Amino acid sequence: MLAEPLLERYRDLLARGAEAFPITLGEGGTPLIHARRLGAELGLERLYLKFEGTNPTGSFKDRGMVLAVNRAVTAGARAVICASTGNTSASAAAYAAAAGLPCHVLLPAGKVARGKLAQALVAGARLVIIDGNFDTALDAVRRLGEEGSAAVVNSINPDRIAGQETAAFEIVDALGEAPESVALPVGNAGNITAHWQGFSRYARAGRASRRPRMLGFQAAGAAPIVRGAPVEAPETVATAIRIGNPASWRLAEAARDESGGLIEAVEDEEILAAQRDIVRLEGIFCEPASAASVAGVRRLARAGRIHRSESVVCVLTGHGLKDPDAVQAEEGTLNPIPARLDAIRDAIGAW
Ligand code: F0G
Repeated sequence: MLAEPLLERYRDLLARGAEAFPITLGEGGTPLIHARRLGAELGLERLYLKFEGTNPTGSFKDRGMVLAVNRAVTAGARAVICASTGNTSASAAAYAAAAGLPCHVLLPAGKVARGKLAQALVAGARLVIIDGNFDTALDAVRRLGEEGSAAVVNSINPDRIAGQETAAFEIVDALGEAPESVALPVGNAGNITAHWQGFSRYARAGRASRRPRMLGFQAAGAAPIVRGAPVEAPETVATAIRIGNPASWRLAEAARDESGGLIEAVEDEEILAAQRDIVRLEGIFCEPASAASVAGVRRLARAGRIHRSESVVCVLTGHGLKDPDAVQAEEGTLNPIPARLDAIRDAIGAW
């Protein structure tokens, strides 16, 4: 039996009247995992990981893209266009392919993970690489969107944010109640906005009796919200969140303040250490940006700012396979040995 598509499952909260959503790639329905071993390491009994890497293109972007592209088709768009640090372009390319629409993506030169580039290319998107960063690319897309008949599918499109609210719905459905805290990486700041709106909508609909504290984490080299000013030349190993002037800046601050939460920075080394710990202790391989959530929670737990019995959900926004270079750099080279049992026994060493 076919699984019920995400937009149908939450139709009462998302749909306008009888509108149809013919395009779906099987997005959503991602696992919420009780991370016992990682939790023990962090001193948290109720740490959960929401692994968005199991979405069709390997990131949370598919939740909003499915709604944005369905509506672009209904509105008669002739093409879709976006700026991206990688995941949005991979998602846009896939959903545009399924809709039979051309897809144009603007990417910052040299800073998009290989897996994400491959995804956009193989789905037939037209890539424009610009000599500038994500913020410059998004500015250009805003202007082009005003001129032409292409639908902008960045998170400045409210359908993207609305679709991404479904992650919050799923978290409440899985736990039976909203958790006390939800931690997320913050880049363009659409996803923290979407989660807060989603938890709020669920509470208003009577499906949750409380809303969580929103904990957002930026990379230290790309932390405009933490600093309170745009960052001209953002830099971080977490290329997905290498953003100096987030589009949903004010909304993210509202999510932080209304929820009694925070937005803080974590160093690249903490991000990479968290990425490694998540996969070594829980078997879940996420990309560096995703691990900023766990890196931030680790900091708060160490400082006694999260209680041991508090329920905390860390959203792991994208799959580690998208960016193998970020980890291979640390693994060094693997040298072959002779294919003989004695040599292999020696290489294995003690069990
Ligand atoms: N994690 C991953 C894996 C991302 O790709 C992004 C954003 C974020 C976190 C941050 O989410 O922007 O809503 O605050 N990626 C965008 C892109 C910018 O182009 O793929 P945000």
